[in-house]
Amino acid sequence: MKKFSSEKEHNKKGVKNMSILTLENVSYTYKNAHRAAVSNVSCQFEQGNVYAIVGPSGSGKSTLLSLLAGLDLPTAGKAVFDGDSLANLNLDRYRRESISMIFQAFHLFPLMTVMENVCFPMELCGVSPKEAEPRATELLEGVGITKEQMSRFPSKLSGGERQRVAIARSLASNAKIILGDEPTGNLDGANTQNIIEILCGLAHEKGYCVIIVTHDIEVAEAADVALRMKDGVLRVA
Ligand SMILES: Nc1ncnc2c1ncn2[C@@H]1O[C@H](COP(=O)(O)OP(=O)(O)O)[C@@H](O)[C@H]1O
Ligand SMILES: [Mg+2]
Repeated sequence: MKKFSSEKEHNKKGVKNMSILTLENVSYTYKNAHRAAVSNVSCQFEQGNVYAIVGPSGSGKSTLLSLLAGLDLPTAGKAVFDGDSLANLNLDRYRRESISMIFQAFHLFPLMTVMENVCFPMELCGVSPKEAEPRATELLEGVGITKEQMSRFPSKLSGGERQRVAIARSLASNAKIILGDEPTGNLDGANTQNIIEILCGLAHEKGYCVIIVTHDIEVAEAADVALRMKDGVLRVA
């Protein structure tokens, strides 16, 4: 199996790189489709690294992310999380506890304040409001959102601020894998740079495995490993 890991055993901050998510000869063919959207992909994703996946529209990037997220199971081959095939895991639990998703369109709840947006998913998981609020404050401060901004509605924030709130919300669980589909797609250069720094910091300093689909050349350049998808096939860029 081809290994797409970086040469280095440890990254700059000394976080040991460990493969947390592995694809073994994975293919996915949609029902009634005449060819595979993802074709025989083998790849290891390690903690402590940022991976950028680039490629033309229709090349299979979103399908690949949905396989990594456990939204679909491969039609051939297997996806392995921490030693277990996703086919043998409770996928609802895997998605809830092991994966954080960040989307281009933020998906914040418009009628909840920033603070409530970040507390809500924690409360759904049974965390009491008393515990959720300090944790949300810490997460929001970590992405540069001020106390005053926390009491606003999302519509009263800039696009870059909203995306930072979405990142803080996605970090509310203890998941160590962050999956992003064009997370900087709606942002200008300065805000994109800010999001890149946050995602790289999470990988290099806190050992997250960050995997993002992107059209942004800046994001691809900042990644530890750049991958290119074409006609369902994944290669080192
Ligand atoms: N629900 C679906 N049913 C059938 N074909 C699909 C479906 N979703 C995507 N596809 C096809 O799978 C291929 C890969 O799509 P996708 O993973 O969305 O690519 P990308 O994210 O790179 O634009 C495309 O040919 C697309 O038309
Ligand atoms: Mg897509």
